[in-house]
Amino acid sequence: MNLTTTSNIKIVTASTSKINSVDFENLTFGTIFTDHMLVCDYNNGVWEQPVIQPYEPFTMDPSSRVFHYGQAIFEGMKAYKDTYDAIWLFRPDENFDRFNKSAVRMAMPEVPEDVFLGGLNRLLEIEKEWVKKGKGNTLYIRPFMIATGHGVVASPSSQYRFCIILSPAKAYYSGEVKVIIADYYSRAANGGIGAAKAAGNYSGQFYPTKLANEKGFQQVIWTDDATHTKLEEAGTMNVFFRINDTLYTAPTSERILDGVTRKSIVELAPTIGINVEVRPVLVSEIVEAAKNGTLKEIFGAGTAAVVNPIAGFSYQDTYYELPKLENTFASQIKENLTNIQYKLAEDTFGWTVKI
Ligand code: COI
Repeated sequence: MNLTTTSNIKIVTASTSKINSVDFENLTFGTIFTDHMLVCDYNNGVWEQPVIQPYEPFTMDPSSRVFHYGQAIFEGMKAYKDTYDAIWLFRPDENFDRFNKSAVRMAMPEVPEDVFLGGLNRLLEIEKEWVKKGKGNTLYIRPFMIATGHGVVASPSSQYRFCIILSPAKAYYSGEVKVIIADYYSRAANGGIGAAKAAGNYSGQFYPTKLANEKGFQQVIWTDDATHTKLEEAGTMNVFFRINDTLYTAPTSERILDGVTRKSIVELAPTIGINVEVRPVLVSEIVEAAKNGTLKEIFGAGTAAVVNPIAGFSYQDTYYELPKLENTFASQIKENLTNIQYKLAEDTFGWTVKI
């Protein structure tokens, strides 16, 4: 695809840049933001002119709907710099489509392509120095929309703000990731908002994840709410399980986020000789495979986390450590996927889009 461009953007440039004060080698995920952001307001049924302006706090009425009813959605994307200094996005059309699906589910207005993708293109041109070369360096892109309409009546807002902020990032997780398989709390239910990238899907996980953290686990792997027998997704990632030499991952559903990294792995893995099956994955089969030694790997996949191996899992207070293998499927997939993202390998899928 070619990225939409738009000339209909007002640009107000920051008078100074923070870039020289940033230690790009020691970044904590999502804590430093670039000099500019894109803002576009929706009023009276229309999107106003987008503005790229200095990154700064918003002033908002305390009765704004987002504060009371959590009408808020977001996306996660990354920009990569190749060895020739060109900047690339990975499947941005997928994020744009998913954002608008989330908007529909949350009774929010869809954002036009020239605002979302055209605005992002322009913002990245302005912030290109913030995208550092070298594998592992990225500029994390956080588009989001909040309900800004005033009044605490519990109904959809008629005013919204769409915004894109950018944050230089390296790894999301530092150190080993161990998980607890949920047998009581749920992330999502049929008919709910699990497939939307809605803010509340994440805050609803904070309490059970905090309980997991207290026991020394970084994440929860969510199971289906009705029976807690099927493995669905981890808090910030989709999950893959390797039993013998096949990878298994749950099909997407109303309860599972349709992850861009997940769907890319499902397409990519067979091309490097790894068999993938998309089918319901039972807790019982994973516990059994862990016991009989056929469970070789579990890894999470997501934009922020990329491909993140899981060291072990706990289920109903029993901990199962995963074997420490050489040349894992996770490392082979990560290598091949990131080679495409950084333009170090041919992109035969047509996933990468130049800024
Ligand atoms: C992403 O991978 O971009 C996500 O949305 C996860 C985020 C909650 C850090």
